[in-house]
Amino acid sequence: MRLAVVGASGRMGRAVVRLAREAGLEIVCAVGTTEVGRDVGELAGVGPTGICVVDGLAALEHARADVAIDFSTPAATLALAPIAAAAGTAVVSGTTGLDEVARAALDRAAARIPLLWEPNMSIGVHVLARLVAQATAALADWDVEIVETHHRAKVDAPSGTALRLAEAVQAARVGSPHVVHGRQGRPGARPAGEIGMHALRGGDVVGDHVVHVLGGGERLELTHRATSRDVFAHGALRAASWIAGKAPGRYTLGDVLRT
Ligand SMILES: NC(=O)c1ccc[n+]([C@@H]2O[C@H](COP(=O)([O-])OP(=O)(O)OC[C@H]3O[C@@H](n4cnc5c(N)ncnc54)[C@H](OP(=O)(O)O)[C@@H]3O)[C@@H](O)[C@H]2O)c1
Repeated sequence: MRLAVVGASGRMGRAVVRLAREAGLEIVCAVGTTEVGRDVGELAGVGPTGICVVDGLAALEHARADVAIDFSTPAATLALAPIAAAAGTAVVSGTTGLDEVARAALDRAAARIPLLWEPNMSIGVHVLARLVAQATAALADWDVEIVETHHRAKVDAPSGTALRLAEAVQAARVGSPHVVHGRQGRPGARPAGEIGMHALRGGDVVGDHVVHVLGGGERLELTHRATSRDVFAHGALRAASWIAGKAPGRYTLGDVLRT
């Protein structure tokens, strides 16, 4: 599999490069906006690969990559979608904070290439979402509050994973409860039918998600804690191996894990 890495000089990009090299995968293109000209393997701490970071997604047009793994920014993902579609390169994207325009661009690209976007590439979070759906359906009148914690450099809030967990609750409950972001002042007594969402930022926390399901006299706390970015990089690489050669369309990590 010929692999392109978008966001190659970022935290996740470096983890993807390192694990791809350790797995013996061929990296043919590395796109970033910093560390341009640096060998991407040296940047990731695994020695020279002969592939240097280039600034500009147009590099994908001639890279003949089978799959592009993207952990970058919403703007870069938006730009990547049509370029990958034109190049016939499948996309595995984990970039979060995408708006409707970027999501629509992914949908359009998926008419021409296989494409998987997933706000959390960890298998543990995938299972957590299923447990959350099960618990909140069974405890239909209990309150739900989602608390996520990430490192101080994270730029979007709430996390894509927290939003995905809220979607799992909405799908499991009648009336699709709406999300309320934080509370301050005098919001009054908590009404039924809302999902509280709270984002904590600080230190070097890789990613914690706690779903509180609160009843009278008892409560559940369903928790996932990531202690290494490698779990997300592993998930993305597994998805990339799976998606190479698939028919055009939108895929999910669930599709990958089912097979
Ligand atoms: N799905 C998951 O499992 C998962 C897990 C972890 C993180 N994420 C998400 O992945 C994204 C990246 O996270 P991170 O922690 O790696 O952030 P990061 O360290 O800031 O890396 C993002 C990288 O994208 C680069 N970039 C910006 N514009 C670009 C462009 N036009 N072309 C190519 N590269 C570009 C940035 O370059 P500059 O440094 O020059 O700006 C940076 O190196 C975020 O959205 C994060 O929430 C998802």
